[in-house]
Amino acid sequence: MVKGIAILGSTGSIGRQTAQAARRLEIPVLSLAARRDVDLLERQAREFHPRYIAVYDSEAAAELRRRLADTSVEVGEGEEGLCAAAVVDGADCVVTGVSGSIGLKPTLAAIRRKRRIALANKETLVCAGEIVMAEAERCGAEILPVDSEHSAIFQSLAGRDKSELHRILLTGSGGPFRGWTREQTKDVTPEQAVRHPNWSMGAKISVDSATMMNKGLEFIEAMHLFSVTPDRIKVLIHPESAVHSMVELVDGTVIAQLGVPDMGLPIQYALTWPERRESETAFLDFAKLGTMHFEDPDPEKLPCLRLAMECARQGGTAPCVLSAANEAAVGAFLGRRIGYNDIYRLVASAVEGLEFLPHPALEDILRMDRLARDYVKAAID
Ligand SMILES: NC(=O)c1ccc[n+]([C@@H]2O[C@H](COP(=O)([O-])OP(=O)(O)OC[C@H]3O[C@@H](n4cnc5c(N)ncnc54)[C@H](OP(=O)(O)O)[C@@H]3O)[C@@H](O)[C@H]2O)c1
Repeated sequence: MVKGIAILGSTGSIGRQTAQAARRLEIPVLSLAARRDVDLLERQAREFHPRYIAVYDSEAAAELRRRLADTSVEVGEGEEGLCAAAVVDGADCVVTGVSGSIGLKPTLAAIRRKRRIALANKETLVCAGEIVMAEAERCGAEILPVDSEHSAIFQSLAGRDKSELHRILLTGSGGPFRGWTREQTKDVTPEQAVRHPNWSMGAKISVDSATMMNKGLEFIEAMHLFSVTPDRIKVLIHPESAVHSMVELVDGTVIAQLGVPDMGLPIQYALTWPERRESETAFLDFAKLGTMHFEDPDPEKLPCLRLAMECARQGGTAPCVLSAANEAAVGAFLGRRIGYNDIYRLVASAVEGLEFLPHPALEDILRMDRLARDYVKAAID
């Protein structure tokens, strides 16, 4: 089990569940980071007594400094603050629970200090998977998946030689609009889109789950984490979310990880690995579950998934542009500036319209990330 953790995105869905795991497993929390939720950061600071807190927004950082003046907690801000939180002394693991590609630089900073990365922030691997995985290899840093699908694949592959793997079967519930046509989704509101049938998550990933862009981002994440080519990952719709993903071995054997849909479990496993501990997660009641269904996704009804898979095959800067344009478009949808179907339209247009670099360096990735956001913003304004 890890000895101390840094929680990036501590006020979000993953961050709060990580704090809960730390509380129960009695793991010291050495740093916290968030964008601007000072109320929760203050409560977390007074409970966990971290050494350092990063608040991205500078006004909110000043407010937190005022509120914590009676403590010894240092409060930093901006991207630099996030990187400092990621490499805080005494933490051997960083839980990356921030949303979006803002997680990239702090993750790289932690990798360079050989910290274990409990990786929830999939956008980091989507936009710069090759660079991040190569750096982890070079520095000898472990990257353990927190995403439930990737945790399931990781657990199903445990102890196996890579040569035994035939294919990854990546499952997804299909979200709240499973089977809907584009005509039916045209008037979908943010409230409808964030209401996921099985999982309770932050707003951005909930919208991504509705459009199935999330499954596309996970497809790219799986390619990097398990170093497989796109043709060795198959997406399956599985509405019950009991199977969290599976691996097909070369002899036809299929190994799956099952459980109730509760992120507490993969978060805890990334912290306790290679041990397993008792958890608060309920046991799966198979008799109550009764039946499980599986079906192929329909690419016509799921254009975001199709586009993400195309970008995965293309490689280079395509996944970075896809992810950054999607972040901007989902933000605009949540702010009611565009409609639900515009998300795909804008992301596809950014992927089509922006320059493509087959072998980007980190600076190219950061530049294309900015350009993709600007492209979407300009298309909306
Ligand atoms: N939720 C899940 O069940 C789940 C499952 C698998 C993977 N993930 C992945 O985990 C990540 C987080 O998801 P979530 O659902 O926990 O999101 P969320 O509830 O929206 O929380 C996002 C967190 O990131 C912080 N944040 C956002 N922008 C930031 C910035 N510029 N600087 C510093 N902190 C920033 C937020 O701070 P404020 O609160 O101050 O805004 C909040 O703490 C995403 O990459 C998602 O894909 C989530």
